Amino acid sequence: MNDHNIVITGFMGTGKSTVSRLVAEKLGRTLVDTDAEIEKRIGKPVARIFAEEGETYFRLVERRMCRFLAAQRGFVISTGGGMLVDDGNRDVMLASGTVVCLTADPEVLAERLRADQSDRPLMRGNWRGLLEQRRSAYESIPIQIDTSHKSPEQIADEIVALCQTASV
Ligand code: S3P
Repeated sequence: MNDHNIVITGFMGTGKSTVSRLVAEKLGRTLVDTDAEIEKRIGKPVARIFAEEGETYFRLVERRMCRFLAAQRGFVISTGGGMLVDDGNRDVMLASGTVVCLTADPEVLAERLRADQSDRPLMRGNWRGLLEQRRSAYESIPIQIDTSHKSPEQIADEIVALCQTASV
């Protein structure tokens, strides 16, 4: 396996963080979570960046973070759910390694997001509409894994196998 990044993306609630952590553990790679990196850089949680600086500012910082991380090698990168909806960000990450888009049925997402107490500013509004708006951007990513009826462990194993056969 070469040292290209493994990038895990998808809508909120598709399991990116858990699956990315497992993939990083299995491969002995460093895990980078783009939201956590943005929070460190700006010095406040994403929900407060949205509330105090606005989404446009968050997207600007996110775009810079995307380019910074794509220039590194050997990471497992868990992206924020909106990062690769942007065409430029998607191209940059696709060029930096293997990008895997996690999906899930809306009913499964609703259930997971109810159980998860994370403060997600964009989940307060019409998230189903947002998912529809983003559908074509997510679908343009060649590797898709439907997580609806799989455990994080199964999904992580699938990604590891995929990267090994694709010699990522
Ligand atoms: C967002 C998803 C969030 C976070 C921010 C915006 C989005 O990350 O980046 O609230 O636009 O989908 P998670 O997908 O990890 O919740």
